[in-house]
Order: sequence, then C-alpha cells, then structure tokens
Amino acid sequence: MAMAARTVAVLGASGGVGSAVVKKALANGFKVRALARSKSKAMAALGDEAFGQLDAFIEGDVSDASALAALLKDGGDEHPVVMSCLGTPKGMAPCVESGTRFLMDAMALRGWKRLVMISSIGVGDSLEQGRGMAPIFIRCIVPCFLSKVFGDLERAEELCWTERGGVKCVAVRPPALTDKPGRGNFTLASASDPRPSKTAKIPREDVAAAMVQLADPTAFGQWAGKGVTVVVP
Ligand SMILES: NC(=O)c1ccc[n+]([C@@H]2O[C@H](COP(=O)([O-])OP(=O)(O)OC[C@H]3O[C@@H](n4cnc5c(N)ncnc54)[C@H](OP(=O)(O)O)[C@@H]3O)[C@@H](O)[C@H]2O)c1
Repeated sequence: MAMAARTVAVLGASGGVGSAVVKKALANGFKVRALARSKSKAMAALGDEAFGQLDAFIEGDVSDASALAALLKDGGDEHPVVMSCLGTPKGMAPCVESGTRFLMDAMALRGWKRLVMISSIGVGDSLEQGRGMAPIFIRCIVPCFLSKVFGDLERAEELCWTERGGVKCVAVRPPALTDKPGRGNFTLASASDPRPSKTAKIPREDVAAAMVQLADPTAFGQWAGKGVTVVVP
C-alpha cells in the first residue's frame, strides 16, 4: 500500500542494500533522493525505471560537503529521513564511521533529524545475539578477517547514540545478506529478544523493506536510539 509522499535520502545507492532501499521507497510512494560515487554504477544497480523516478541523483563521496548539501536539500518535508547504506568495499579502508560523522554533521546543518543506518548483527549490544545466530561467523570469521570492518561499525553506531547535532538514529542489524528475492516475512527484534532467528541469512530486499518501514515516524520513534535486529523465521 502506498504511503503519503515523504522524503528519503539514500547513501550508497549503487550498493546491494542501498539500491534495494531506493526501489522499495519508490514503490512505497516516497520521494527519493540518492547519492552514489558513480552515476553509471548507480544506474546499473537501480535500472532505468527506478533511476528515472528519483527526485534527485547526486554523484559524490560521503566526505564531499557540497554533495551532501545537494542531497539534503530542504523539500519542505516535516519528517525527512536519511537511509545510510554505506559499506566498506573489499580491500578499502573502512569508511562507515567517518562517513557517518560527515553525514550527521551535514544533517544537523540542514535540519534533517532522523537517520536509519545499516549495521550488522554482532555489533554493540547484539554481540550475544549474533553468537547465537551465527556462531562461526561471529566467533571466528569476524576476529580473524573482519575486525577492522566490525570495529568501524561499532564506532559508527557509538557515534549515532551521541545524537550528534540532535540527529536521532536507528541502526539496522541484519545477519548475512543474500540476493534472493525478499519474502516480507521479517520481524524487527531488539538485541535482548529471546527468540532470534536461527536462519542467519536474510535477502537484501527484506532488509531494505525493514529500513523503509522505519521511515514511518511512529516506527522510527519506537526504535530511535537503538539497534534493530532484522530476522526471518
Ligand atoms: N554482506 C553481509 O552479509 C552483511 C551482513 C550484515 C551487515 N552487512 C552490512 O551491510 C552493508 C551494506 O551491504 P551491501 O551488500 O549493500 O554493500 P555494498 O554493495 O558494498 O554497498 C556499499 C555502498 O557504500 C558505498 N560507499 C562506500 N564508500 C563510500 C564513500 N566514501 N562515499 C559514498 N559511498 C560509499 C558504495 O559505493 P561504491 O558502489 O561506489 O563502492 C556502495 O554503494 C555492509 O557493508 C555491512 O556493513 C553486510
């Protein structure tokens, strides 16, 4: 069902989760503004139809203040939301903490007060839950191969909880992502939920649907200042 038109600004629109967020938000009637480092990569990820429906596309890096200013233009929307789908590309220096810092400062400057960011199961107070849902990943893979990426996510979340510049955040923490079609059968759980899914995989489309669901002011208010684990049965 289409919601009343509101504005979302998506970072990482050329990525797996980011492009799925753009498509889901458009399908739900949102006005969508998108930023990515490469226009051609974003067009390939979104397809001509979704790309053509964007309210604005800005080519730029998250560290580029003028690109962020263009993304966060005042559209007269009372409840605009930023969806940060930033991730560190393989072999690159972690970018999520620094990107979140740039982003929150730009949001504060332009009066955007709500941020939904992609994080991961196992980050912050979801560590124990992550050990239950994905024991080998959290106990072995993360410390051996992904400690820098997870350290970066930890610091990005901590930054979020400071409400820098009055910006409130929700961190969305999925288990392993897949490119299977979304089924819409996900639930949002807190880190202390006693019934986390044992299926530690979720389609990117379902994570995108969860993030777009959090654009609703009531849903956002319920989770603001917290991490949300997205689980499938
Ligand atoms: N993979 C998993 O199983 C898993 C599980 C749990 C959580 N997560 C989290 O989910 C995140 C998103 O996953 P994904 O599959 O969507 O990753 P992805 O496809 O690699 O997307 C990451 C996005 O971030 C953008 N980006 C990186 N650095 C940037 C910068 N400096 N300025 C602007 N944009 C920048 C990338 O742009 P370019 O296209 O230009 O590189 C890309 O659009 C992961 O990075 C991770 O933190 C992943």
